Amino acid sequence: METKVNSHRIATSDDIEVSAYLEIAKEIQGEQPVSQPELTPAIERETILVIDFGSQYSMLIARRVRECNVYCELVPYDTPWEKVAPLQPKGFILSGGPASVYEPEAPLAPAYVYESHLPILGICYGMQVLAHQLGGQVASATKHEYGQAILRLSAEESPLLANLEPPLTVWMSHGDRITEMPPDFKALAYSENSPVAAMGNDSGIFGLQFHPEVAHTPQGKTILGNFLYNICGCKGNWTPRNFIAESIERIRRRAKDGKVICALSGGVDSAVTASLIHRAIGNQLTCIFINNGLLRREEPERVLNTFQRNLKMNVVYVDASERFLECLRGVIDPELKRRRIGGEFIKVFEEEAAKLGRIDFLAQGTLYPDVIESSAAQSRVSAKIKTHHNVGGLPAKMTFTLIEPLRHLFKDEVRKVGLALGLPEDMIWRQPFPGPGLAIRAIGEVTKERLEMLRGADWIVMNEIKKAKLYRQLWQTFAILTDTKSVGVVGDDRTYGHVVAIRAVTSEDAMTADWARLPYDLLAQISNRIINEVAGVNRVVYDTTSKPPSTIEWE
Ligand code: XMP
Repeated sequence: METKVNSHRIATSDDIEVSAYLEIAKEIQGEQPVSQPELTPAIERETILVIDFGSQYSMLIARRVRECNVYCELVPYDTPWEKVAPLQPKGFILSGGPASVYEPEAPLAPAYVYESHLPILGICYGMQVLAHQLGGQVASATKHEYGQAILRLSAEESPLLANLEPPLTVWMSHGDRITEMPPDFKALAYSENSPVAAMGNDSGIFGLQFHPEVAHTPQGKTILGNFLYNICGCKGNWTPRNFIAESIERIRRRAKDGKVICALSGGVDSAVTASLIHRAIGNQLTCIFINNGLLRREEPERVLNTFQRNLKMNVVYVDASERFLECLRGVIDPELKRRRIGGEFIKVFEEEAAKLGRIDFLAQGTLYPDVIESSAAQSRVSAKIKTHHNVGGLPAKMTFTLIEPLRHLFKDEVRKVGLALGLPEDMIWRQPFPGPGLAIRAIGEVTKERLEMLRGADWIVMNEIKKAKLYRQLWQTFAILTDTKSVGVVGDDRTYGHVVAIRAVTSEDAMTADWARLPYDLLAQISNRIINEVAGVNRVVYDTTSKPPSTIEWE
């Protein structure tokens, strides 16, 4: 089986010698040890399946269901029953989608959705699919309904629309509408432009013309909760603690007495992956932490302190900073930097893994959005594919079986699991950091001196942002060492120094981002400190571009 290491998750550290690390480790020995909460036995999982017709909100439906503590997975609409059956769903949600049900090639719900006699909730296009397949009529509306609408409930009471408070603002986004409901269905609600804004029958099949999953439908979560608890009979016991207990059982069953390796990066995904596996199989797990010399100041010490000293995990620490610097010598092209770093990472990882003897499994912190994106890409439901982040991969000859305990979690769920595992908050809330690290923030050639300068500026940015209590609100905040030099003046002397740029962005998912409107005083403080504390820098600028048109990183 071919395996891939997401080398961009693998951060390493700066070029601090192990002895220096030990010094720092001594200094931080006063820190709270990581406390490991008690385990609870796993409770049987209840699953809801979202049949995905390609709506931009499909993933959001899954998130909202999970926020109701019910496990939920997204499957493309053409997924065969053999793949779905093992999940033992308790109900189906048909997502929205861009098609029109009366078009010849329009995607429809597979027969098992109806034949299972499980509860079904169709949302927007999903509701039209229900109407179309169950004998109703759907037609193009004369007026598209887009935006907020006020929902009015019919006299007909329904468990789906219970416990709602007027006024019921909902979010509509549809061109087609139901002109005739299928037999036995009743209209449960209407809006100004939708005579059937919600419908249902007595067999647990419901449709909503609006989107309960979006924030613009403030009581949407209550409606989804009604479907889950009142109609599907879910108990809502999918919690981080339950997930941990369940994962531990699964990992134990899978790994048996096999040996597992995991590359630690300092990021939250690899941290939670390693901790879960460690809780399950203890010393059968060995973590490899490669210091590529491109990490932030004190990052390696922090990682080692948490995993080696506090959690008592087997961690192989490799200071490969010189090797990485060597392979980056003279390289200025950003993509070449990525490729070189990815390639070198694989080499080092391979060498270290070989020293460990027989290894059966490779643990990776793959998350659910990556899984969905690749499966959506395969089934061509969605055209949105992120491509530029995977740097390298392990060669095919390294034949490990993958263990990916987080492959069904969203990032915020990973954080909750990490906290429930007792990992330190600063690790859990760490802002994303790219695998190629500071190499893609030192524009131009990556040298030891330039990295040190960048590390100094970056340290100040982090420090000030944290002091201002803005760290968690911002998606990323960092310094860039540009390849521009500028003229300055200190006292009576002319200087010719480096220009540092500051980047701070807000974002939901890094696909788009807005530049953060940091307070001027904070910017002034960051700028003053960088000029005073980082030798060689004589100008600081602030990046005021959003993504698009810029990207978050400069390279
Ligand atoms: P851009 O710069 O494309 O970045 O707007 C979006 C997000 O991805 C991160 N990023 C990377 N992460 N390897 C990574 O692991 C990479 O090569 C890479 N390039 C960008 C970036 O920090 C941001 O969070």
